[in-house]
Amino acid sequence: MSKKILLSGVKPTGAPHIGNYFGAMKQFVDLQNTNNYECHFMIADYHGLNFIQNADEMRTNTLNLALDYLAIGLDPLTSVIFKQSDVSAHTELTWIFDSITTMPYLMRAHAFKDAEAKDKEISIGTFNYPMLMAADILLYDADVVPVGQDQKQHIEYARDTAQKFNSLFTETFKLPEPLIMKEVAIVPGTDGRKMSKSYGNTIPLFATREEIVKGVMSIVTDSSGDVPTNVYNMHKLLKSEEDLKKLYDENKGKYKILKEALIDDLDAFIKPLREKRALIAQNIQGVEAVLIQGALKAKEKADAKLLTVKKNIGVL
Ligand code: ADP
Ligand code: TRP
Repeated sequence: MSKKILLSGVKPTGAPHIGNYFGAMKQFVDLQNTNNYECHFMIADYHGLNFIQNADEMRTNTLNLALDYLAIGLDPLTSVIFKQSDVSAHTELTWIFDSITTMPYLMRAHAFKDAEAKDKEISIGTFNYPMLMAADILLYDADVVPVGQDQKQHIEYARDTAQKFNSLFTETFKLPEPLIMKEVAIVPGTDGRKMSKSYGNTIPLFATREEIVKGVMSIVTDSSGDVPTNVYNMHKLLKSEEDLKKLYDENKGKYKILKEALIDDLDAFIKPLREKRALIAQNIQGVEAVLIQGALKAKEKADAKLLTVKKNIGVL
């Protein structure tokens, strides 16, 4: 039986947090380890360029994200791990998609509407974000794309674009499916809103114990009930509701004890990841080599697909 094709990516916009992990990155590892998928994990640096406009920061974040990928268990021997900007077919296919896409259609994107509602000046890259993401996915004939809930609309854009291309020209692209884990579709942050780098409400995935303590102590608790909802919801990521029931029943209203228990559980979960990351960080050249190898493999696949696309639109 041939394996299904999986592709996903993360922007190198700063240290990943446990929301990124439980919402998306953990699925990368779990699905990779089933052996049922041909996996591609990308560092979406060109998407990140909309947010990071400083060369040193971009370089550091990118290498850090490669390290993070390896530390959570992505395996360069079985998965293609690569940087988006290393494969020029992504931006080339974006142009082709731009030419068959209308402005009103892109104006319906949540990210665009949010930026507009905040009266932000919107870059063309932000406006066009869904087309680059469609190119990322469709170039590899991905069947599944594991992501958090906030990316669902982007996968719909990729599907629509594939359909539009197929009907305008000839059957060329597969329609990808999003893979979203219901229970962790939106991991809450320390303030109860969606955990996000841009809200400053995160627990970093490779946090030190001090950072964990700082994060957990800042969790907003309302005094209306026995169970501090925001603490409990984060705790649920680490332990079964059964296990938590006893702890929360025995400590009704004792927010400090519950927060301390959460700190210990988070630290127990993060410590091995932190240690593995520190070990891999001792060989940065090895990490760079992973990206070089990954780029070669990704390029081969993407270039072959782009050739077909170019034939199908008549430029070849
Ligand atoms: P951020 O919002 O922190 O900038 P990214 O946009 O870089 O996160 O997201 C990377 C991946 O992590 C995406 O698949 C996204 O859906 C997922 N993700 C981000 N935040 C959360 C969250 N709080 N809960 C679940 N998944 C999340
Ligand atoms: N837009 C995604 C995010 O913000 C990152 C991303 C870029 C991506 N290209 C992708 C995710 C392709 C899945 C597939 O998290």
